[in-house]
Amino acid sequence: MTNKRHNAGILGTGYYVPEKRITNRDIEKMVDTNDAWIVERTGIRERRAAEPGTPVSEIACKAAEMAIEDAGVRAEDLDLIIFATLTPDYYIPSTACVLQMRLGAAKAAAFDLEAACSGFVYASAIAAQFIENGIYKHILVVGAEVLSNMVDWEDRNTCILFGDGAGAAVYGAVPEGEGILAFDLGADGTGGDTLIVPAGGSAQPTTEESIKARQHFMQMDGKAVFRFAVKVMGKTVLDALEKIGMDKSEIDHLIPHQANIRIVQAAAKRLDMPMDKVFVNLDKYGNTSAASIPIAIAEAQREHRFKKGDVIALAGFGAGLTWASCILRWTKEDK
Ligand code: UT7
Repeated sequence: MTNKRHNAGILGTGYYVPEKRITNRDIEKMVDTNDAWIVERTGIRERRAAEPGTPVSEIACKAAEMAIEDAGVRAEDLDLIIFATLTPDYYIPSTACVLQMRLGAAKAAAFDLEAACSGFVYASAIAAQFIENGIYKHILVVGAEVLSNMVDWEDRNTCILFGDGAGAAVYGAVPEGEGILAFDLGADGTGGDTLIVPAGGSAQPTTEESIKARQHFMQMDGKAVFRFAVKVMGKTVLDALEKIGMDKSEIDHLIPHQANIRIVQAAAKRLDMPMDKVFVNLDKYGNTSAASIPIAIAEAQREHRFKKGDVIALAGFGAGLTWASCILRWTKEDK
């Protein structure tokens, strides 16, 4: 039973990445690694880093302003802001509230959502509910991260992978048959310790010892996350397709979470998709967690990859563990 009154779709997109580039060669000077290894095992060549002390709301604001303009609305028109991030400005207030102030979106309710790299798709699924039932007209969904603060630059397991960036989309009502057609969200909390920042929360509050032990930085069992990702990324798309009786051959574009080219290739293989239908920008930006999918959508749009009516699959996975996918029919004219 559904009370759907409208379809929810993307009215506008935006993105922003900081100017400063950190190349693999730069990282060779920090930890025992090399460009060839990083490129072969991950596909990443460089990533962006915000200047130290940059709040994530600052880079998010730039992406949000672009999305609002692209949607042809004003910040004052926003009814809700959902901010997906694992690197918030503060514990309190929420970064969504900081962004609401920065944008002057006085009418908008605002909250943060933490589903790690799956965050943007989780947030989009929530936004869709409010649009579909007619409660809200315009919802800004942001995925943004300043991961350069959370990465241990002495740990070669993680510091090679991550980058900073922000992506945003404005959702609103679109004609029937367009916009979000289906989504699939999932979680497996038993895998929580495979990608974790152990200290700084209520489970292990900050102490001198925790700081010395570098427990405020991300720790990852890369192999375990890799296995999980390869298993789940294609499957979540197939599960979403099944809900609407669509076949994988009907997908025109796959926008995967940009974590590792080998994970992306495995997902494409599972979906029988040639790589020219798969958008990849991880070579330039690395893994920007919640920002990776919205940056990819916004960039692909500006590269004129999408035609009105194209079927796009978004697919993410991340800490939690979590996964999320969304099937949508692109509703914007290519300009
Ligand atoms: O959004 C979700 C975030 N997380 C992920 O997506 C991570 C998923 N996992 C991965 O992407 C991969 O597991 C990594 C890129 C992290 C690691 O690649 P891998 O192919 O699983 O490498 P490995 O851990 O099996 O290590 C292979 C070898 C080891 O050496 P030995 O034991 O074979 O001699 C490592 O010590 O490579 C070594 N190694 C490195 N060498 C150079 C591990 N990290 C590095 C490094 N540079 N940065």
